[in-house]
Amino acid sequence: MTTIDFRTQANAMHDELVVRRRDFHQHPELAFEEFRTAGIVAEELNKLGLEVQTGVGKTGVVGILEGAQDGPTVLVRADMDALPILEENAFEYASVVPGKMHACGHDGHTTIALGVAKLLSRHRDQIAGRIKFVFQPAEEIVGGAKAMVADGVLNDPRPDVSLGLHLWNGMPLGRLGVADGPVMAGSSRFTLKIIGKGGHAASPHQSLDPVVCAAHVITALQSIVSRNLNPLDGAVISVTKLDAGTAFNIIPQHVELRGTVRTFKLEVRDLVEQRMREIIQGIASAMGCTSELQIEHDVLPVSNHPDVSERMRGVFQSFVGADGMDTNERTMGSEDVGLFMTDIPGMYFFLGASVPNSDEYYGHHHPRFDFDENALPLGVALMSAAVAEYVLPK
Ligand code: NI
Repeated sequence: MTTIDFRTQANAMHDELVVRRRDFHQHPELAFEEFRTAGIVAEELNKLGLEVQTGVGKTGVVGILEGAQDGPTVLVRADMDALPILEENAFEYASVVPGKMHACGHDGHTTIALGVAKLLSRHRDQIAGRIKFVFQPAEEIVGGAKAMVADGVLNDPRPDVSLGLHLWNGMPLGRLGVADGPVMAGSSRFTLKIIGKGGHAASPHQSLDPVVCAAHVITALQSIVSRNLNPLDGAVISVTKLDAGTAFNIIPQHVELRGTVRTFKLEVRDLVEQRMREIIQGIASAMGCTSELQIEHDVLPVSNHPDVSERMRGVFQSFVGADGMDTNERTMGSEDVGLFMTDIPGMYFFLGASVPNSDEYYGHHHPRFDFDENALPLGVALMSAAVAEYVLPK
């Protein structure tokens, strides 16, 4: 058994990874429209001799790399979609599609996963098990993972472990975030209608003012995080959209509010929902109004299995050192990768990729977002080594 030098092999791929990433970057496609990207992915996987399925969850692609011997199945997930943003970068590989941009790094994720497929396919004879490469559409509208799961991506064969990564501009190259437990929040969206009784603004006593009621509700909702939850459990409740009224002298009939809830634990999510209902109903009825609350739970929290992340930290240590890993990197942002990690132990890590020597910081989803392309070979090396931990007999 020869040991594989993942770092050297990945570094040798540097230039082709950059070319591929820049091609994806120039040709961004929005959720469920990743036809060009999916076509390139499928073509490359076919070339590598993987078993390829297209049209999984509309525009998703699955490639299975079958090892020489039997063993566990490892799922590697990459997302492919871009964002509806007009790119403001002036470099030569900027988006050629007005109003669409890879502003989150998914061009890099797709490139890295293809690189891993290429690297590991050279070592098929050493592999005991199989790798299921999942190229997911529509992460940005959190619909792609659900569509792929509905199309059976977790069956035949069912993965034993799921792995994923996100390029992360909050950290420099060479730093990783590999935490245990929740790393990205579950996300719910809500729509609240408060119904009062309209009337003349000069005669409020003859109406039931839903605007004042809404104001009290908005303020009181902020007490849930501060007064009802365990302070060690993170959560966010944001009211982000208000629709009310038509003129300065009319008390409107109703007010509509929208917003989002982010939590790391399902029990916290359920408690937030319960308290929202109680507070809204109580305040509305106290002010003579009625309310209708709809909550949709869009995304599950992404939670790393402690055994898997512990094992991965062991693998990653030889690449970035123990000091290079942050074991508490978490964000209230959301991701639908959690659907591949439900009942399947998994690990989702952050790969530091902030642009070096840059005076200004442009975060994910900014029109001037970019990342350090040296993160591409590092990502290939890390993910290949992570997969090898499960399917390469020592
Ligand atoms: Ni993203």
